[in-house]
Amino acid sequence: MPDHSKISNLASDRVRSIRMSAIKEMAILSASTKDAASLAWGLPSFQTPEYIRQGVVERLGLDEDIGKYALPDGLKEFRQRVVQRHQEETGVLVEADDHVMITAGNMQGMSILLRTLINPGDEVILTDPCFSSHIQQVRLNEGVPVYWPLDEAHEWCLDVDRLPELITERTRALIIVTPSNPTGKIFSEQKLRRIGEFARQHGFMIIIDDPYSLFTYENRKRFFNLASVENLFDHMVYLYSFSKAYAMSGWRLGYMIAPAWIKQQVIKVHDLNLICAPRIAQVAGLVALSGDQHHLSVFESELAKRRALICDRLDGLSHVFEYHRPEGAYFVFPRIQVDHEDAYEFCLRMLDQVRVTLTPGSAFGPSGEHHVRMAYCVSEQTINLAFDRMEEHFGKA
Ligand SMILES: Cc1ncc(COP(=O)(O)O)c(C=O)c1O
Repeated sequence: MPDHSKISNLASDRVRSIRMSAIKEMAILSASTKDAASLAWGLPSFQTPEYIRQGVVERLGLDEDIGKYALPDGLKEFRQRVVQRHQEETGVLVEADDHVMITAGNMQGMSILLRTLINPGDEVILTDPCFSSHIQQVRLNEGVPVYWPLDEAHEWCLDVDRLPELITERTRALIIVTPSNPTGKIFSEQKLRRIGEFARQHGFMIIIDDPYSLFTYENRKRFFNLASVENLFDHMVYLYSFSKAYAMSGWRLGYMIAPAWIKQQVIKVHDLNLICAPRIAQVAGLVALSGDQHHLSVFESELAKRRALICDRLDGLSHVFEYHRPEGAYFVFPRIQVDHEDAYEFCLRMLDQVRVTLTPGSAFGPSGEHHVRMAYCVSEQTINLAFDRMEEHFGKA
């Protein structure tokens, strides 16, 4: 008889050592819990805007190449439109051929980028808390995540004075998400610029993972895109995702703006990984950027209402959760105030006993322990249902 126990051990140590994303794990558990009210997954409730869907339908009838591969770095017309957008957003003019690569979203863009940058044992500095997948992506590429604690007492701002002690000979990159997932913090221009100075001084790359820059509410003026600092261009890779601002998470689309030497290397990995981003999604992206952007203000004002609602409901549970009001994106990251073993145990209990799905903060780094992440991109009805149930369970403040 063949020994099947050996077969099941054939998965590599590297893959076995990483964890399934807690966000997806909770989403999977939630799906098998009848009628759970889920605040776990940052998946906006919005539909892809009509002008994008309609534009793709038209092109499906007209473009006989739409079902074919594109070149690995993407359709030229789309890359040229991306150049224009990047200039509008940052003031920096890049070259479509030298610097722009179309990706299948920021998760894929980050994967191939880290694969390109990291040798085993190289270090990547991550804010702590950070987007949980970044931790596992660094590990999957045999890199070492180095946690840079955010300052919770000051609304999760960057503590730049602590950065120098984390930089070593092996520091390859530092990843920034602003507004932040999971805290909703918008990092200040002054602190971001200081990171830029360190990158130039110590020769590492800054990776900006940007799904949320269009969700800044009343704080628009405080948002600063570090990719707009021209003299940091050689130290910067900017990843933009269409998933959130264009409600295109299922299309799988993003782009990367990188120095030419990175594009030359990363394109090989991208080709081996995917060949090209789905061409139909690239066509959709071109339509998305070319059309009237009216939906953005509609999405943002809807999310602002949901933020007001969730903050109001959190205030009603102040004996259970203590939180900082998020400035952007659509997450809030409260500290758990009631008895619990750890954030994971608390979330499992909430799902099992209260039928509310939350993401354990520990998945976002050590500083996230004893917190939960709540995504308020879901409908007001779901937010209310989740909080009605929690109020019933814990009582009102
Ligand atoms: C910081 C961050 N990066 C990347 C992603 C995934 O982006 P995409 O859908 O473009 O792969 C998310 C989604 O939640 C995110 O929050």
